[in-house]
Amino acid sequence: MTDFILVTGGAGYIGSHTCKALAARGYVPVTLDNLVYGHPWAVQWGPLITGDITDASALDRVFSEYHPAAVIHFAAFAYVGESVEHPAKYYQNNVAGSISLLNAMRRHGCRRIIFSSTCATYGIPQEVPIAENHPQSPINPYGRSKLMMEQIIQDYGNAYGIQHAILRYFNAAGADPDGQIGEDHNPETHLIPIILQTVLGQRSHADVYGTDYQTPDGTAIRDYIHVSDLASAHVLALKFLTDFRRNLCVNLGTGHGYSVMEVIQAAQEIAGMPVNYRIADRRPGDPPILVAKPDQAYAILGWKPDFTDIRTTVSTAWNWHRSRQADISGRPL
Ligand SMILES: NC(=O)c1ccc[n+]([C@@H]2O[C@H](COP(=O)([O-])OP(=O)(O)OC[C@H]3O[C@@H](n4cnc5c(N)ncnc54)[C@H](O)[C@@H]3O)[C@@H](O)[C@H]2O)c1
Repeated sequence: MTDFILVTGGAGYIGSHTCKALAARGYVPVTLDNLVYGHPWAVQWGPLITGDITDASALDRVFSEYHPAAVIHFAAFAYVGESVEHPAKYYQNNVAGSISLLNAMRRHGCRRIIFSSTCATYGIPQEVPIAENHPQSPINPYGRSKLMMEQIIQDYGNAYGIQHAILRYFNAAGADPDGQIGEDHNPETHLIPIILQTVLGQRSHADVYGTDYQTPDGTAIRDYIHVSDLASAHVLALKFLTDFRRNLCVNLGTGHGYSVMEVIQAAQEIAGMPVNYRIADRRPGDPPILVAKPDQAYAILGWKPDFTDIRTTVSTAWNWHRSRQADISGRPL
């Protein structure tokens, strides 16, 4: 029997890579995406339903047609700064939208969900690397919307028997090693694509926010987890929920951090060109170091990231950005 998996936000960055990984394991990913940020070209491994998770009748149609065995829930807004300016937008989409999805699951007897959470739920870390039992104290509405959903999903689990895997991603990075899909956010706020767009002349410079942190080179350190490794963790989480009928809450990161300057250095080496960057002030609320303790995902899921060297991760992103540039301009690079 075909196992359909409903993937909300499957036309987005991490969702589309997960659809590819699901299809490789024999599942049929059914993408539900309102295309506010997603791309139809990224949906290559199953049907695309254009619709919104806040729309109960659209959800009813999808559940009635496909009877998905599980939901992988990526759909959300994820711009931290915007969430501070427009919290209503974030709570409406990320919280009310997710509750609408959970209620549709209840109506249709779908009992498994994998939820995209984030290291932003930890807030300013008291210690690094960050383990799952680190206190959660998010410092912006985006992080709070994700923490609220973690708690609501757990309550739905206890009361209505919805099994759940909560996956807290650190910094998603890189692109499909086959070059079929990659990261294309608009606006782009993530460091690696910004650096590569600078190299390709698509923007004038990359900003380095703060050089006076208590880190070896003074710039902020982050844990860059390759998007294909994130995708494979979702497939393992799905299998875990099916096989063990237990719940799961794990960090997804590599356990290694790289500073902004180290990422710039890696990009310069891969591209063979200098990166034009500018030193700017620290951004409020940016912690000096965010690195995962990923041991739980290793132990429970048997998951280990394939991409642990920033140069390999950056090179997959570089191949993708270069080929996109060539597609757009019609000339090979
Ligand atoms: N990218 C990261 O580094 C990162 C880190 C931690 C957590 N996350 C979380 O992972 C998830 C995916 O992130 P991404 O980087 O792939 O983002 P993305 O913007 O590329 O993908 C999100 C997708 O959801 C869709 N969407 C948004 N609201 C919707 C709605 N109401 N109905 C239907 N579709 C809707 C968008 O059109 C988009 O295609 C998000 O929940 C995000 O909060 C991302």
